[in-house]
Amino acid sequence: MTRTKRQLAASLKLVDCVAEIIDARIPFSSRNPDLRKLINNKPRIVLMNKCDIADKTQNQKWIAVYKNAGITALPVDCKTGKGLNAFMPAVRTVLADKIKAWEAKGMKGKTIKVMVVGIPNVGKSSFINKMVKQSKAKVEDRPGVTRGNQWFTIGKGFELLDTPGVLWPKFEDKLVGERLAFTGAVKDDIMDMEYLACRLLEFLKENYPELIEKRYGIRTDDIEPADEETIGCVVGFELLERIGRKRGFLVSGGEINTERAAITVMDEFRNGTLGRLTLEKPKGY
Ligand code: G4P
Repeated sequence: MTRTKRQLAASLKLVDCVAEIIDARIPFSSRNPDLRKLINNKPRIVLMNKCDIADKTQNQKWIAVYKNAGITALPVDCKTGKGLNAFMPAVRTVLADKIKAWEAKGMKGKTIKVMVVGIPNVGKSSFINKMVKQSKAKVEDRPGVTRGNQWFTIGKGFELLDTPGVLWPKFEDKLVGERLAFTGAVKDDIMDMEYLACRLLEFLKENYPELIEKRYGIRTDDIEPADEETIGCVVGFELLERIGRKRGFLVSGGEINTERAAITVMDEFRNGTLGRLTLEKPKGY
């Protein structure tokens, strides 16, 4: 077991519940399967973060899927704090039996401790900052300010334990790795931005053509469909060139600067400028 995993397992013993933050644009790929195993039977609540930049319809579908599975999932936007008012009441509901048992033992008002977990870049810091700010809790007396296992008071009798973002070392599914790279959970320096942008555009052409057409003023329907082998290379690159040409991204000699176009596309996807979109639909929808 790695050090981080050992730390997580040890921290788990200190808390009543786990708040797992996932990225609403990739609800499947942003869930670390190692975390799931570690969490085991601990009561859990899922925060579908970045809902503001994910497809509204898909958000609803994912929430319904979780509900059917008996898991409380809340759509949230930790950038603005939207949806976070529901967090503490939802945790109390999830822990209702435990709270009743505490009360029966004369421990009414016992502090509820929640561990926050999630892969890098999913919004853990944003979540904790917003919760701390909303509660106007004092954090100066808390040990350390650097990321690590750190406690935060977010309300009377309510504490959050921050944990380092854990990404599993190897992605068995290539698509999972790719989607994590799209959202920025995997560092860019180990990924080829042009390749990534081509793959993303390929997906968008199939699933959200109107968004790229509107944003970049290009056509997407007149490109020959590619076979499995060439997907992400031929069609995606053609789209990247069209975007670069339209934006006037040229290098000396009049060639299109596709690298610049790629960076633009990835940035605009990541910050939501491209529109609200979700890359993973729940199975069966
Ligand atoms: P982490 O601790 O899990 O690593 O994530 P962190 O909170 O640092 O958030 C990573 C990025 O995601 C930040 O953007 C943050 O603003 C953004 N973010 C977090 N929650 C939301 C959300 O609900 N909606 C949207 N749209 N974005 C969110 P950044 O570009 O790295 O920094 P900055 O934009 O805050 O300067």
